[in-house]
Amino acid sequence: MESVIDEIFGRYKQGRKEDLIPILQEIQEKAGHISEYSIVRLGSLLGISTTKIYGLATFYDQFRFFPAGKVHLRVCHGTSCFMNGSGPVLASLKEELGIEPGQTTRDGRFSYEVVTCMGSCSIGPVIEVNGEYHTGVKSDQIPAMIKRLKHLIDN
Ligand code: FES
Repeated sequence: MESVIDEIFGRYKQGRKEDLIPILQEIQEKAGHISEYSIVRLGSLLGISTTKIYGLATFYDQFRFFPAGKVHLRVCHGTSCFMNGSGPVLASLKEELGIEPGQTTRDGRFSYEVVTCMGSCSIGPVIEVNGEYHTGVKSDQIPAMIKRLKHLIDN
């Protein structure tokens, strides 16, 4: 994984501060998450403290700091999904998994992120589970969904 990071940094040798977000996006895309190694390397490349990089990166929902779980969920919280109840869906997911968006459960089984639109606004709330779309999801369906997914992971 470090070679992927080094390859990305190799293309941003100028070390311009405005490259911070594009570099983070590229790391996220290629490595799946922003590791501590990346943050430290990025700090020395751009002359920005690691605290500041963490502060900026956590401002954006899109960045994750841990490897994704075996099951990764993307929960839409865009305007239409919000109007259709994505808030309670997210609250239920948080309660079931005991983690915040962008985190991974201690056992490495689950992670989830919040996204702003998945292009299925009229049939939301939408959750993508390992690439498969679930539409019209209700908060009271979440415990059974997680139970089913745990069963799939363990068998
Ligand atoms: S707002 Fe959720 S799919 Fe568009």
